[in-house]
Amino acid sequence: MATNITFHPGSVSAEERAQLLKQKGITIWFTGLSASGKSTIACALEQHLLHLHRFTYRLDGDNIRFGLNKDLGFDEKSRNENIRRIGELFADSCCITLTAFISPYRADRSVARELHEKAGLAFIEVFVDAPLHVVEQRDPKGLYKKARAGEIKDFTGISAPYEAPENPEIHIKTDECDVTEAVKRITAYLTEKGFI
Ligand code: PPS
Repeated sequence: MATNITFHPGSVSAEERAQLLKQKGITIWFTGLSASGKSTIACALEQHLLHLHRFTYRLDGDNIRFGLNKDLGFDEKSRNENIRRIGELFADSCCITLTAFISPYRADRSVARELHEKAGLAFIEVFVDAPLHVVEQRDPKGLYKKARAGEIKDFTGISAPYEAPENPEIHIKTDECDVTEAVKRITAYLTEKGFI
């Protein structure tokens, strides 16, 4: 815990920043099992929003673990810390932030949500839902196979828990809905709520 630090407020308020940039900061928080489709949908949505000239940035679990969070593994404590750090990022920047992390623990996602709510920023939880047998069949990286063979420990859905959202803003079943349709549904939600 750092001591002797002082919070330094900027000269632009959150409201002014939003007015100047003509955009409110929101976080679209994708959560779901590995291979459920989080990254695929987040990438397609990012492309769509950028083409609408919305300031958008995507943070992806795998990618962030190459850099900022390369010190973290997949035990429960590390995952808590992974999500804690991501929840802190971008919240106040007027950016549409798309996060694609398994984020398996409800409590961690709640912390991220509370942080946004305290700052008056929208937090949109998108449950990217696919049954375990479907993601195991997809297995694009061969990770489920390895996990079943005991070569990867603490693997979500196999040997580590995934706590599904109870009340997500958006629930997408990727065994029933393709990427284009998913992007349409999220965009319709953002439009309806006045975010874009
Ligand atoms: S978490 O749970 O939110 O901290 O995980 P995240 O940062 O999103 O990282 C998930 C990606 O890491 C790869 N991987 C694993 N996933 C789950 N469990 C274990 N043990 C594991 N080891 C490596 C995997 O590629 C995940 O990517 P996605 O895109 O979810 O498939």
